Amino acid sequence: MEIGWKDEILYKDLVKWGARLEKETPFFKELLKDKESENTIVLDVSCGTGLHLVMLCKWGFSGIGVDISEQNIEEANRIAEESNVQSKINFILGDIVEINEVVKEQSFDFIYFIGNTLSIFDRHERNLIIQKLIQILNPGGKILIQSVNYLAHAKDDVWFYNPNLKRSSKGGLTFHIRMMEWKEREQKVTMYVQSILQESKDSDNFELFKKRTEFFVPKIEDFETLQTQKNIEVSFYGDYYWSKFKKEKSNDLVVIIEKNT
Ligand SMILES: C[S@@+](CC[C@H](N)C(=O)[O-])C[C@H]1O[C@@H](n2cnc3c(N)ncnc32)[C@H](O)[C@@H]1O
Repeated sequence: MEIGWKDEILYKDLVKWGARLEKETPFFKELLKDKESENTIVLDVSCGTGLHLVMLCKWGFSGIGVDISEQNIEEANRIAEESNVQSKINFILGDIVEINEVVKEQSFDFIYFIGNTLSIFDRHERNLIIQKLIQILNPGGKILIQSVNYLAHAKDDVWFYNPNLKRSSKGGLTFHIRMMEWKEREQKVTMYVQSILQESKDSDNFELFKKRTEFFVPKIEDFETLQTQKNIEVSFYGDYYWSKFKKEKSNDLVVIIEKNT
């Protein structure tokens, strides 16, 4: 069965959440250290199943999460309820290409757009999205953007990410593997996700899901025009540990945009 973003069902099970949040938490804490949680509204752009927003709301912030996948939004609402933070969160089904309309022109103190979603948009689309995010950022606010730095992989034409075996929220086992392929000429990376999903615990019924995603390789040069834009400051890092970005070495491209007061 081939699936697309709108009928995403795999995302939460694909990620090792404990390790990921442990790695990212200090970075978020540092970015938010000068914000008073009660007065700070955050926006999670392409929130997936909302685990980051739930984490921030547990710290006292409140906010909105937007995602195009109905399943992800349903799961995000379930997790918010289970974590007792539903009164601080509004998860909205919507397209981030129309983010201003989706959030009804509300503005935010902290916006994050992470988990490599930036790479699914071409340079033109992503610049439009980023401009829209700057419009709805309050003065003194910050935008965090993270995507994988595929340039660090340019010499390996194919690679894979460690397979992930876990029990799904429905009880069955899920096994995922991500195979990656560099397309030098197009400056794109194709990700083939192959997933085997057990219907329920102890069941002998397994289904095979596959998903193919094309990623446009983000580059620091894509942000050049932003760097000359008035009222904002842009900085680049190579990971969530504040390392300097190195084109052919860094795992990630992490961009922080700050709007002057
Ligand atoms: C790789 S996941 C990242 C999720 C989350 N940001 C994270 O860091 O874990 C990409 C997410 O983008 C969502 N997405 C893809 N295209 C979108 C769009 N046009 N508008 C809103 N969400 C979108 C998908 O449904 C999926 O949840």
